[in-house]
Amino acid sequence: MNTINAIENRRSIINFKIDKISKDIVEDILNCGRLAPSAKNRQPWSFVIVQDEIKNKIADMMIDYTIKNDDSIERKKIGYKSSVNSTANVIKQAPILILVFKEKNDDWTVGDNLSIGACVENMCLRATDLEIGSLWIRDIVYVSEDVAKMLGHGDLELNCAVSLGVPNQSPKQRPRKELKDIMEWY
Ligand SMILES: Cc1cc2nc3c(=O)[nH]c(=O)nc-3n(C[C@H](O)[C@H](O)[C@H](O)COP(=O)(O)O)c2cc1C
Repeated sequence: MNTINAIENRRSIINFKIDKISKDIVEDILNCGRLAPSAKNRQPWSFVIVQDEIKNKIADMMIDYTIKNDDSIERKKIGYKSSVNSTANVIKQAPILILVFKEKNDDWTVGDNLSIGACVENMCLRATDLEIGSLWIRDIVYVSEDVAKMLGHGDLELNCAVSLGVPNQSPKQRPRKELKDIMEWY
């Protein structure tokens, strides 16, 4: 698949088949993350791949969090409870969860966050190329410290996660703003 096809065909997948995907495929996708550009070439990322019980435990931690923490006004606006619960259910369905960790360094917050974005998008595009479904996940943020500690990585920041699996849906392209509405030329 060429680049434009991967960009146009990538979708966030929330329904996965029960089929496993091979370690080789997962590592191919991680390798494309590794090849991403990064601010000052800091490559601030590292990956922990979780499956089965540990993966499902993380999803349960997210669900427990929503039970124990009521919606604030701000959180109501983003529909946090239903979003976190639905993301936790996707995590349970998909056979692989990649946890994307970031080095803690206050001087590089912006650059490192931008770099991780490039890394994760590379992974999602490569997954599309390999006909693997992906979901880029922010909703793990509420339990990120607990998850990092549970896995012995309290020295790192859990930045985001990516679910991977064989897609069980082929969603239409989700709406995008028109280029003319988000562009100014001088
Ligand atoms: C940084 C980032 C974080 C996201 N976090 C979540 C998430 O936690 N749960 C979820 O269901 N979708 C998540 N998404 C998926 C978006 O909802 C999705 O990209 C958007 O609706 C557009 O759909 P598309 O990816 O199919 O084009 C995330 C996407 C990005 C880029």
